[in-house]
Amino acid sequence: MVGQRHNQQFACCARRTGLVAGRSIVTYTRLLSLVVVALALVVDVAAAQESGLARGSQLLSQYKTDLQQALREGLNQGEVEAIAACRVQAPKIAKTLSRDDIRVGRTSHRLRNPANAPPDWVEPILQTYVASPSDREPRTVPLSQGRLGYAEPIVLQPLCVACHGEVLDSEVASRINELYPADRAVGFHVGELRGVFWIEFPVEN
Ligand code: HEC
Repeated sequence: MVGQRHNQQFACCARRTGLVAGRSIVTYTRLLSLVVVALALVVDVAAAQESGLARGSQLLSQYKTDLQQALREGLNQGEVEAIAACRVQAPKIAKTLSRDDIRVGRTSHRLRNPANAPPDWVEPILQTYVASPSDREPRTVPLSQGRLGYAEPIVLQPLCVACHGEVLDSEVASRINELYPADRAVGFHVGELRGVFWIEFPVEN
């Protein structure tokens, strides 16, 4: 009798345990699928970010190459002549490459030409680089209308000090003062943050 009751109780417990176990399996499965979905999203976002970074850097490379070439050609004529190359060629190059929904430019926290002021989305990135000198990682920012913004730091090279360094040739200095009375782009050291290159482009589907 006792044994029977015990068996009944046991059977009942077993059923209940089975139910509980069944429920927790369902819960665990749901949890697991949520984790999988979340992971997939994280991977997706990371992949999109990665491809945005790659595309931004690739689209920007022509701009950087053209600017370097214009600067070198200018410097071959002399430093004062190269000022004209920077002044005239740089905006021209940016304009030529800014088409098909793509906009490109360079800016700085210490501007020479106020016309090179950062677009709204670039300003906080610029400030991040200024605040953490060891941070040289490029950034992407989602923009309106399915566009993406990409920015990367510009670091001063030895080639740049002739016009952005601490001591300028007097002729160079007076030409720069004449053209840019509000110039804030001198006194930089090699390796220091000079500004950022930025580009806006439509995201590929
Ligand atoms: C021959 C002088 C000269 C040299 C060398 C030179 N720059 Fe400039 N830089 C200028 C002038 C002039 C401007 C302003 C151009 C304009 O009016 O848009 C300028 C503007 C800039 C700007 C745009 C932001 C601003 O302040 O208006 C950046 C960024 C910049 N230079 C970085 C560099 C870097 C990096 C190098 C070295 C690779 C370099 N420059 C070498 C003369 C020079």
